[in-house]
Amino acid sequence: MTREKDTPFEPEILAICCKYCAYAAADLAGSMRLDYPANVKVIQVPCTGRVDMIHLLKAIEEGADGVYVAGCLEGECHFLEGNLKTRKKVEAVRKALAQIGMEPDRVQMFNLSSAMGPRFAEIAREMTESIHKLGPSPIAGGTFRAEAANTERQSA
Ligand code: FES
Repeated sequence: MTREKDTPFEPEILAICCKYCAYAAADLAGSMRLDYPANVKVIQVPCTGRVDMIHLLKAIEEGADGVYVAGCLEGECHFLEGNLKTRKKVEAVRKALAQIGMEPDRVQMFNLSSAMGPRFAEIAREMTESIHKLGPSPIAGGTFRAEAANTERQSA
């Protein structure tokens, strides 16, 4: 699916969230009825340590305008160092993007606890704002955008 030329830019952002912290914080944000942009599509992983560089690059390749990983606070990963290892992978992906002329800020990592529902919503807003400023990904089309559009149609 390609972007409509005359429609205003609405970023498609993937949030990869650890089930113990960020995903629980997203749930809390929902329970607290905190608004965060619908631009952010959340997926859950058992630990951010399961996220590999290829997953982040694949999301960008598939047309996501931005992707972020949200894991437990440093020192509180349930699998000890998953979040620390993934921070290094995120940094490596950011460097790779810079080397090919893409903005590294399209890929980010955050740490939060399950009690940080408001922070989860704030991160989603910050990320959406940041990607809005960067503009659409230079990688047009891709299945991520098409799947996001399908999900929106099915939930409507
Ligand atoms: Fe949350 Fe590892 S269990 S980042």
